[in-house]
Formats: sequence, structure tokens, C-alpha cells
Amino acid sequence: MTAMALCSRPELIVFDEPTTALDVTTQIDVLAAIKTAIAKTGTAALYITHDLAVVAQVADDIMVLRNGETIEYGSVEKIIENPDADYTRDLVNVRAIRHAEAGDQSERFFEMKNISAAYGTMPVLFDVSLHVPKGQTLAIVGESGSGKSTLARVATGLLPPSTGSVRFDGQDLPSALKKRSREELRRLQLIYQMADTAMNPRQTVGGIIGRAVTFYEGLRGSSRRNRVDDLLEQIEMGSGFYDRYPAELSGGQKQRVAIARALAAKPELIICDEPTSALDPLVADGILKLLLQLQKEKQLSYIFITHDIAIVRAIADSVAVMHRGRLVRFGPKSEALTPPFDDYTDLLLNSVPEMKTGWLEHVLASRRISSAGN
Ligand SMILES: Nc1ncnc2c1ncn2[C@@H]1O[C@H](COP(=O)(O)OP(=O)(O)OP(=O)(O)O)[C@@H](O)[C@H]1O
Ligand SMILES: [Mg+2]
Repeated sequence: MTAMALCSRPELIVFDEPTTALDVTTQIDVLAAIKTAIAKTGTAALYITHDLAVVAQVADDIMVLRNGETIEYGSVEKIIENPDADYTRDLVNVRAIRHAEAGDQSERFFEMKNISAAYGTMPVLFDVSLHVPKGQTLAIVGESGSGKSTLARVATGLLPPSTGSVRFDGQDLPSALKKRSREELRRLQLIYQMADTAMNPRQTVGGIIGRAVTFYEGLRGSSRRNRVDDLLEQIEMGSGFYDRYPAELSGGQKQRVAIARALAAKPELIICDEPTSALDPLVADGILKLLLQLQKEKQLSYIFITHDIAIVRAIADSVAVMHRGRLVRFGPKSEALTPPFDDYTDLLLNSVPEMKTGWLEHVLASRRISSAGN
């Protein structure tokens, strides 16, 4: 991509969130390629991102924008070490949430046992076993294509596994969606990365949430309306949003509506498939805080799929690391994220950009040393 942009010998290249959808291990290679290309050609570059730790690796100066206004403008060092504006400070300190890990994680409230799955003849998951206790959060991390979303599809019955079982409280769930009862569907809800694709653009917020209220609780008329208002309250959006369409909502608001729709089912487990990766970090933090608060109030279990290790540190009790369809690590957060590591987890954890200059060079240099030693 960088090579393509440089073919025409430009004087300025604009990079608009080029690594946002990538996992951290791939992101490193892209950042290194961008940096080298710019240095070699002497091209000027404008790098747009909501990840300050990324921009600290590639930029000389940073401009912080908010609502169309320049909040702060200065050298990278100045902005990340000594910001003037409160907003910049919030950005630097984002992910200050620290959820203390649960002590006992042995309960197999929700369990996936020896799951293998395939798309047609292409195998994607190989003998994956994991569990999450009531009221706790399991985070699933792993590079793009490692099978995280496929695992979510198997759990929800969208993709029946070729072997293995999905269980609640020791009871097998039917593997196919069509065979699951309404009560079984109610217990397990899914929230997607792209709230857009999961919402009918022609339905209002009230219609979207109301449909779930009618489906799961049989409520209609004013009792349905009251329940929707109550759910809007729970996601900290007033009933004023009832008549809005998805296109009239921000990304964070859409994700809140998706949460309200899931809550309408009074679920016991919610699988969140990268629910915050399309959001800016402060909005994402708001969503994470909301999820944690709802968890406490309702004893919800979460399976939280993410690329973002900072989020894992912030909210998880246990952690599962996926690599090429296999589970390479599973256990309490404190153990899973502490050495000794397997090779893949080591690479993954060392690929998370740190909020300091020179981090990228340091990581690239240490990789050259270790590959020279092999
Ligand atoms: N509908 C599908 N049909 C065929 N193959 C698929 C389908 N969906 C995913 N795959 C393949 O299955 C593998 C696992 O994909 P999956 O979406 O589960 O990965 P992921 O870990 O969620 O990745 P990401 O982090 O990018 O979301 C990939 O090789 C992918 O190409
Ligand atoms: Mg996915």
C-alpha cells in the first residue's frame, strides 16, 4: 500500500487510519514500512489516527483535533509527556480502567468443549476448549483470521461445529440455531464490531429494541414502550432517542443501542465481537465502563473478542489466546499475561505499541537480534 502511494513520487502522503483494522503483529510491519519509505524518499506525511501510541512511533509533530478545532499542536514528546489540554491528557491516560481479576475461575457456567469447525471443507477451529464462570469476563485475543469470530458463530449456533459441544450449566445447547428454543436463544446474545451491519437502517431505535422486547418478553403497546425506555435509560441514552434512525446516531450511540437490544433478552452471557474497535478511545472507554457496570448489576458473563491488549488488561478475568484456529493459551489474566510465554503470545504482547517515542525502533531491533540468533 505504501509502495503504491509512493510510485507517483508525491510530495505529501495522507495516511488515514491505515492500521486500524489490523492486528498488532501486522500493524508493526506496516508502521515500519511507512516510516522507512518516508525517510528514504523525503516525502512529507500526514498520519491520521485515534491511537496516540501509534502516532508516537511515526510522527514528528502531533495535532490534536476535537469537534473541528485544534486543541493542541506540538512535538510528539511535548504532547505525550507534557500535554496542556485536559482532552489530550485524557487521550494519553485512556484505558485507565482496571477491573480486578476474579479469584475463583473454575465454574463452568458457559463452556465450549473440544470444538472443531469448518467452512465447507476448510477447517478453521481445532479442538478448542474454554469456559467462563457466571458474572466473569473471558477475553479472546489473536491475530486476524485466527478464528475468534468463528468461535462466536459456533457458540451462537450460526455455525454448527463438526465436533464438540456448547454448554450452559452443564447442559448441551443444540448446535444449530434453528434447534434452539427461545429460552436458549435468550441466554446468549451477540454484539458485533460493526453495529451498522447488525441494524436495520429503516427501523428506529425504538423499533430495533422494541422488536427484541416483543420477541423475548411478549410485551406490546405501552408496556413495550416502557420497557424500551427503561433499556434506553440503562445504556445512558434518554427516551429522546426512541424515534431516531441508526444513521442519525454516532458510532458509540449505535453500539449502546446494540447493547440495549442484547439486554432486552435478559441474557446470561453476551459475546462481544470487537465492539469498540471502530470507536475512538474515549468513546470506547465509555462503552467498556458501561459493560462493566451492567455486569456488576446483572451478574452477566462476557466473552470479549478484541485485538486490543490494553482492553484485555482493563476488563478481563480470564484470557484465551488463539493462533491459527488453535487455543495456545487459556487461564486467569494474571497468569496468561505473565511470562513464561509461548512464542505467539510473546510476539503478540510485544507488538502492542507503547506510549513513548522510539518504541517501534526498539522492538524492530530486538527482533533482528533474535532472528540473527536463530
Ligand atoms: N463465511 C466464511 N466462509 C469461509 N471462510 C471463512 C468465513 N468466515 C471466515 N472464514 C475464514 O475462517 C478463518 C477464521 O476467520 P475468523 O473470522 O473467525 O477470524 P478472526 O479471528 O475473527 O479474525 P479478525 O480478527 O480479522 O476478525 C479465516 O481464515 C477466514 O478467512
Ligand atoms: Mg473477527
